[in-house]
Amino acid sequence: MTGKLKIGLIGAHDWAEKAHLPGYAAHPDVEIAGICDTVPERAEAMAAKFGARAIYTDYRELLAVPDIQMIDVCTPTDTHLPLSLAAIAAGKHVLCEKPLHTLAEPAFDAARKAAAMGVRTKLGFTFRYSPAIRQIKQWIDDGVLGEIFHIHGFEQNSQFLSPDFPLRQFAIDSPRDRLIPASIIGYGSHLLDLMRWLGGEFGSVCSTMKNFVPERVVRGLEGRQRFMVEDGAAALVEFTGGAQGLVQSSYIAVGNYPGVEIRVYGSKGAAVARLITENGIAETLHFATPDQVEFRPVAPAAGALPPGTSLETPWPELYYRNLVRFFADEILEDRPEECTFHDGAKSQQIVDAIIKAHFERRWVDVGA
Ligand SMILES: NC(=O)c1ccc[n+]([C@@H]2O[C@H](COP(=O)([O-])OP(=O)(O)OC[C@H]3O[C@@H](n4cnc5c(N)ncnc54)[C@H](O)[C@@H]3O)[C@@H](O)[C@H]2O)c1
Repeated sequence: MTGKLKIGLIGAHDWAEKAHLPGYAAHPDVEIAGICDTVPERAEAMAAKFGARAIYTDYRELLAVPDIQMIDVCTPTDTHLPLSLAAIAAGKHVLCEKPLHTLAEPAFDAARKAAAMGVRTKLGFTFRYSPAIRQIKQWIDDGVLGEIFHIHGFEQNSQFLSPDFPLRQFAIDSPRDRLIPASIIGYGSHLLDLMRWLGGEFGSVCSTMKNFVPERVVRGLEGRQRFMVEDGAAALVEFTGGAQGLVQSSYIAVGNYPGVEIRVYGSKGAAVARLITENGIAETLHFATPDQVEFRPVAPAAGALPPGTSLETPWPELYYRNLVRFFADEILEDRPEECTFHDGAKSQQIVDAIIKAHFERRWVDVGA
């Protein structure tokens, strides 16, 4: 492809400002051709900050711009699927925030529609673009870790430990007498995607989910409310390739954001990535071998960080600048796809199996 990649963004608020737009603005071969928000002042403010050719309040007008090749959907969850489908139908490549949908089948359907239209998709699984996680993937692919025995995945922080921090991650008309799966959807979807990327397909899972904070403030309702929101989930995993896995997602485990930790133990080596901002550093990576079992720190490889960033760059910007850079380069250089809508649907399928295993108190096969 020649010339700059022209992108249009829908949803110009907090996450677009912190994570998506800095990535486009920093990429020398990307032009922000349009920014759309139903609230015009937001589109105007983002256009002024990051530079954009035009602003829109109706996404259909943005999708009708012929030279825009890629659409970024950064709107609330319930709009992800319809906006992505509209962008696919308009023949645009699409990056969409996760989750594409809260059910696997509509996400698989969107992946099929994108393939039929010949456009690329990418789901906003932020942590795939951590330099430490990508290094572990490289080590696995290169055989450095040998045969993989154990994969442990954690996503936990204390974001919702206080009952007075408003929760918005579930529908407020949900039944109040039943556990409402939440952390396993919000945090688990990222984590399970990482574990599947590193360890291959999931075979079977069993799990337990629990509500620890019974009354809390919920966005859209007055005062503390009694809801059985799942704020902690744990699962055991059998991978089809033979490895074992452990999963923990938690809204209430004391610790800083984003609170992702991945440990991989193989026959030739082990790696531990901690994506937890501590002392101003976004992440650490440690590596050990059978003949040198003390874990030692590993610095990011050359080119692993987006130009102009360091491990002191705030994690949303660091990882998203990498994600955006990879997607733009995939399109510009016709590289193989990764982290697609199909991967999003596969992660949703695993979430569904973990929820089912809890409610039925048994092992559940994840399915092909
Ligand atoms: N991947 C991650 O780690 C991560 C982290 C934070 C947020 N997110 C996701 O990013 C998305 C955006 O988050 P946010 O906090 O900025 O949300 P937000 O609700 O603050 O902002 C969304 C914006 O979209 C606009 N909008 C809604 N519907 C629209 C439409 N049809 N057309 C045009 N504009 C529309 C709204 O006016 C608003 O300005 C959410 O889906 C959120 O879950 C992902």
